[in-house]
Amino acid sequence: MSGHVVWKGRRVAFRRGESLASALSVAGVRDLGRAATGQARAVFCGIGQCQNCLVRVEGRLTEACLLICKDGLVADPDDGGGHD
Ligand code: FES
Repeated sequence: MSGHVVWKGRRVAFRRGESLASALSVAGVRDLGRAATGQARAVFCGIGQCQNCLVRVEGRLTEACLLICKDGLVADPDDGGGHD
């Protein structure tokens, strides 16, 4: 399955089995927002350990590098909101 996710209101294509971080990267998106500390969020480890790629999906924070895309998934930067 492939399709589109929505990042900051923009449709981003993905391929089957692709993580959100990967789909965003392919689309040229590297900036995933800002942590509450002001630190830029981006993919660092790519394996779910650093928590630096946290984004908000359906109201919850999740690691973009671990989240497999589903058609119609809506994601936004956390922008300092912090952990749930
Ligand atoms: S990049 Fe480290 S948890 Fe996602």
